[in-house]
Amino acid sequence: MDQLVINGPSKLSGSVKVSSAKNACLPILAGVLLNPKPTHLKNLPDLRDIRTMCKLLEMLGVKITKNDNITTFDASDLTSTEATYELVKTMRASIFVLGPLMARKSNAKVSLPGGCAIGARPIDLHLTNLEKMGATITLEEGYVKAEGRMTGTHLVLAFPSVGATENLLMAAVLADGKTTIENCALEPEITDLANFLNKMGARIEGIGTKTLVIEGVMESELCELEYEAIGDRIEASTYVMAALATQSTLTVEGFNPEHIEFITEKLIEMGANIKVGPDYMTMEPSTLKGVKIDTAPYPGFPTDAQAQIMALTCLIDGNSLISENIFENRFMHVPELKRLGARITVKGNSTFVEGGFQFTGAPVMATDLRASAALIIAALAAKGTTTIRRVYHLDRGYADLDNKLRSIGVDVKRENPELENNK
Ligand code: EPZ
Repeated sequence: MDQLVINGPSKLSGSVKVSSAKNACLPILAGVLLNPKPTHLKNLPDLRDIRTMCKLLEMLGVKITKNDNITTFDASDLTSTEATYELVKTMRASIFVLGPLMARKSNAKVSLPGGCAIGARPIDLHLTNLEKMGATITLEEGYVKAEGRMTGTHLVLAFPSVGATENLLMAAVLADGKTTIENCALEPEITDLANFLNKMGARIEGIGTKTLVIEGVMESELCELEYEAIGDRIEASTYVMAALATQSTLTVEGFNPEHIEFITEKLIEMGANIKVGPDYMTMEPSTLKGVKIDTAPYPGFPTDAQAQIMALTCLIDGNSLISENIFENRFMHVPELKRLGARITVKGNSTFVEGGFQFTGAPVMATDLRASAALIIAALAAKGTTTIRRVYHLDRGYADLDNKLRSIGVDVKRENPELENNK
C-alpha cells in the first residue's frame, strides 16, 4: 500500500488550483443514466471514486470515451440495472444509481452499502421516499431490489440528507407528474446536480432552496449536453487550513469562496488574514486564537472540514471545542493527531483541543478521507518526518495530491514499501 513521506515543517507559497468537486461529480455521473443522448463531462477529477463510478456505469451498459479533458458517456442502451456488492463495497456513492435507474428503467438491484469508518450511514430516507414515489422495495441477500414506475408525489425529508436529496431528485426527473421534495439539503453540490439536470432537459424549480419542485419529462425530451462541475470546496478548505497551519502566504483558486463562507467566517473570527476573490482566496501568515465549531448541514460548518480544522486548532494558542453533529464516529483522526503531539480530549460528540503544541513527525495511519487530510495538514506543520500510511484514503478525494503539494513547496514523496522490499 502506498504511503506519503513528508518532511516538515513546510513553508507553502504560490498558488494551487483545486479540481472539480468529487461530491458534485459522483451524483452527476449517476445522472448520466437518465439521458439516452450523449453527455459530455469536462475536467472530471482523476480520483479513485470517479474511476469506480465510471466502472459501475460501464457495468450498466454505458459506453465511455475520453478525448483530452472531455469524457463522453453514451447511456442510450442500458443493458443491466444491477450494482454488485463487489463494486458498491468499495464506494458508498454507488447508491446514487438507484434513483436514475428507477426513473429510466423502473427497476434496480443495488447492493446495500455497508457502513464506513465514520458511521452506520443508513439509506432509509432514500428507500422510504422512493417507495412513496411508487417503488416496491425488498431487501434480499444484501441487495436493495426496487421496481415500479416512478410517480410524482409530495415528499418531506426527515433530515436534509445530501444523498437522499440527490437520489430522489434524479428519480423525479422522468417520473409521471410533479414531485415536491421538502426539507432538501442545500449543499452546493446539489445545486450543481440540479443545474446539470436542467441543462439536460429536466424541469426543476426551487434550486438552492429547501423545496425542490420537479415536473417529470419524457426521456425523449432530454438532450445532449456538455457540463463541468463546480470546484471542490472541501479540497479548497483543506489547502486554506494548510496555509494557516504553516504560517504561509498561499492562494487557493478554482472554486467559489461563497461555498465555504461559514468556514471563512470562523477562520477570520480566529484571526486569520484572508483575502477573498471571486474564484480564489489568499491567506497570509496570521496569529490565530481558539474557536468553537459545531458541524451542521449547509450552510453551516461542513462535517467534511471538521478533521482539518481540528488539526489547525492543535497548533494555535488557545483552546478549542469542536462538536461533530452529522456523523456518529468522525473522530478517527484524533488518536493519529495525538501521535504527532496533539492534546485532544474526546467526550461524546465533542472534542476539547488544547492548542499551542508543536507537532513532531511520526508514522501515522489514514483511516478515512477527511481524517487523512487532517494528517496532511499536521505533517506540513510537524518538525521532522511524517509517514502517512494507507494513503489510498486520500486518493479518493484529493486529485494529484503529491504534485499539488510539491508545487507549493512541500517536501513530499510517495513510497510503496511492499514494492520496494520486493526489488
Ligand atoms: C454526503 O454523504 C457526502 N458524500 C459526504 O462526504 C458528506 O460528509 C455528507 O454528504 C454530509 O455533508 C457524497 O456526497 C458522496 P447524508 P451522504 O445523507 O449523502 C444520516 C466526504 O468526505 N442519514 O447527508 O451519505 C447519515 O447517517 C464524504 O467526501 C440517515 O440517517 O450524507 C448521516 O448521519 C463523507 N438516513 C447524516 O444523515 C439516510 O437515509 C448525513 O448523511 C441518509 C442519511
